[in-house]
Amino acid sequence: MIITVTLNPALDKTASVDVMRANELNRLQNVRVDAGGKGVNVSSIIHALGGKSVAVGFAGGGAGDELRLLIANKSLHADLVRIAATTRTNLKVMDEHGLLTELNEPGPAVTKAEWQNMEEKLLSYAQAGNIIVLSGSLPSTAEHAGFALGKDTYQKLSKRLRKCGAAVFLDADGEAFKLALESGKDEVPNFIKPNRFELLQYFGLPDDESVNEAKLIELCQIMLAKGVELVALSMGGDGAIFVNKNGAWKSAALPINVQSTVGAGDSMTGALVYGFEQGLKETDCFALAMAASAGACTTKGTNPPSKALIDELLTKTMIEKIG
Ligand SMILES: Nc1ncnc2c1ncn2[C@@H]1O[C@H](COP(=O)(O)OP(=O)(O)OP(=O)(O)O)[C@@H](O)[C@H]1O
Ligand SMILES: [Mg+2]
Repeated sequence: MIITVTLNPALDKTASVDVMRANELNRLQNVRVDAGGKGVNVSSIIHALGGKSVAVGFAGGGAGDELRLLIANKSLHADLVRIAATTRTNLKVMDEHGLLTELNEPGPAVTKAEWQNMEEKLLSYAQAGNIIVLSGSLPSTAEHAGFALGKDTYQKLSKRLRKCGAAVFLDADGEAFKLALESGKDEVPNFIKPNRFELLQYFGLPDDESVNEAKLIELCQIMLAKGVELVALSMGGDGAIFVNKNGAWKSAALPINVQSTVGAGDSMTGALVYGFEQGLKETDCFALAMAASAGACTTKGTNPPSKALIDELLTKTMIEKIG
């Protein structure tokens, strides 16, 4: 079973406006609301591929009820922890020139009791054969009540979930990502999908000409030495590199008509875990990840591509062994 976890989900409200004017009334058109959050995106692509997952997350207030409904409307199976505070709504407004203004809320604070409910739920799914995908930002906490979730939250979750036998896939950045990799070899996430920026940020390296393919493979191998089984390094329009104990592979990005690259990485993550669960051989998992992520770029927002498009893109995918 695949479980996706979105600790700080959102309603994504998208709209358009002819001209965006600061300090003035802007009348929105084409307003639509979608279920947002990286884990929800991962569940969506798994569903598009014909697979099943459980989307776990927090939901509260009227917006939380709407989130439940929108997830159900996508035919995804959700198992959400109810919270007292209201789920956030993020507003994204596109003007006639295609310039995007984003107004994102920080997200509701969760209490200690609500966090304990989440931990219990995750532990109930943590067993051998299950893959738990942790992705996205951490929720804020009700600090006034003497409870705070540290940046080591993903580190702690990875440790506990792996101890129970589950495999962990982490897609996070910054300090939360860094700390998750500072554990024992059998405690760090099994699989990670940093993009190029996140990988170089982790190593504190500038993105200059010294960062060539050989250097990137070397950095991914340092991650393997920490206990990670697979590093899927995504590089946007430059394709991806996959490194595991059997070697390194690369693929160019597939030629597509790009609509929106938001959530492309989530599609790559979803396709990989789906491939693992189906028992596909490793290069077939990588090919599926390339096809699904390219397909995701051809749709508006974070809408998943159709299975037919993914299958067509798969025929164009070339995975090359480079190490
Ligand atoms: N312009 C593009 N053309 C073709 N494929 C693309 C393009 N941009 C992204 N992709 C595909 O999507 C994958 C993931 O993209 P990217 O590296 O941008 O992920 P990301 O930064 O983690 O995205 P997000 O966090 O928004 O989901 C790439 O490795 C590639 O396969
Ligand atoms: Mg990403």
